[in-house]
Amino acid sequence: DEEVFKYYSEGKWMKSSSGKSVAIINPTTRKTQYKVQACTQEEVNKVMGNAKRAQKEWAKTPLWKRAELLHKAAAILKEHKDPIAECLVKEIAKPAKDAISEVVRSGDLVSYCAEEGVRILGEGKFLTADSFPGHERNKYCLVSKIPLGVVLAIPPFNYPVNLAVSKIAPALIAGNSLVLKPPTQGAVACLHMVHCFHLAGFPKGLIGCITGKGSAIGDFLTMHPGVNCISFTGGDTGIAISKKAGMIPLQMELGGKDACIVLEDADLDQVAPNIVKGGFSYSGQRCTAVKVVLVMDCIADALVEKMKASIAKLTVGPPEDDCDITPVVTESSANYIEELVVDARKKGATFCQEYRREGNLIWPLLLDNVRPDMRIAWEEPFGPVLPVIRINSVEEGIHHCNASNFGLQGCVFTKDIDKAILISDAMETGTVQINSAPARGPDHFPFQGLRDSGIGSQGITNSINMMTKVKSTVINLP
Ligand code: G3H
Repeated sequence: DEEVFKYYSEGKWMKSSSGKSVAIINPTTRKTQYKVQACTQEEVNKVMGNAKRAQKEWAKTPLWKRAELLHKAAAILKEHKDPIAECLVKEIAKPAKDAISEVVRSGDLVSYCAEEGVRILGEGKFLTADSFPGHERNKYCLVSKIPLGVVLAIPPFNYPVNLAVSKIAPALIAGNSLVLKPPTQGAVACLHMVHCFHLAGFPKGLIGCITGKGSAIGDFLTMHPGVNCISFTGGDTGIAISKKAGMIPLQMELGGKDACIVLEDADLDQVAPNIVKGGFSYSGQRCTAVKVVLVMDCIADALVEKMKASIAKLTVGPPEDDCDITPVVTESSANYIEELVVDARKKGATFCQEYRREGNLIWPLLLDNVRPDMRIAWEEPFGPVLPVIRINSVEEGIHHCNASNFGLQGCVFTKDIDKAILISDAMETGTVQINSAPARGPDHFPFQGLRDSGIGSQGITNSINMMTKVKSTVINLP
């Protein structure tokens, strides 16, 4: 009787009545590593019902007590960093050290969120009517923030733990209950993370975790009438979810094609390793990875040479050995990356390294002289392939950035701060980094995308606010 990891409902670990499981394939060995329950719609209904009931009591629990439990969960999460990181290594081939950092960062995020919640939810507003024309000082308005109800959290495979807690912690501190649907790759890491919340002692039913194929229960979950808010990070599925979801607040982060503009005055010794780190960390499987370099033609040869030297230093191999470049998450992902590479070759891109692939492992590849007719100029490979487009003016770079369907982050390298600010203003993305590659963290910074990159704004403070609603009580005096 092989082990199938249980799902979490009503404070207990349960087997699904479906008798079915979902296999998690290790990206490195390409063999089944773990199995999780394939939950049924009935089981989803049950988790939703429990979450609704538990939320009513939780909303009445003093804020400091909610914070105390979150601090406890954060500490337990950090204590469990090794076994959780091991799951990340086996399920998503995250390099060993990065896997540990993800868990530690998650604990810090939960603690910060508890503190921030205590501060911002512990204060409200007081208004008087006489500031509006025609009114006397006979109405007082007390404004506070109340929870939304049940928050559905759907994190992606690339940060299954961190991007789960970045939804769970704000939801809980604000008095909501939480239903988590982990990604298939990363599901066991998520279950282990949920176990840390279980050990912290949250009330039964407040947190539920449903596993299964998105194709079987995804729509049922996201269109469920019991859901009062969805926080999703991932790919195109998010666009489909936003079209189908009901009249509820949505927080969506759906990827990016982060452009990196390099001006002629930039310090290339500093820029090259920075871009390589930005483009190739976790094998490019980050929504904030540098996904296209737009470099002034006069310095392009020099930059490409320095980037080649940096890329040559990247280690390629299994995540257990903490290699920089590890196998990408699935075979279909590797096939898609290859499609973009083949298209670029056909259309005449310059290959700075030989294209090499073994199974899901793709060696880092820099493509120079990429032109706008190549798919790699616009599509997000989510892999270790980085295109370079040579530009003759800053405007050309800004135009390419703004013509993208995505608008998550962008960056500009220059010593001229005035120019950098003007370029930042002109780049239509949620964030622009000056003199560094894009990144979401520190996790209390606002994080948002324009166009197909998403809706709403994340970051700890914004997420707490987004998961609450304003409530007014008006006192009418005689
Ligand atoms: O994949 C999307 C993540 O939000 C990126 O986070 O910038 O910390 O890697 P990161």
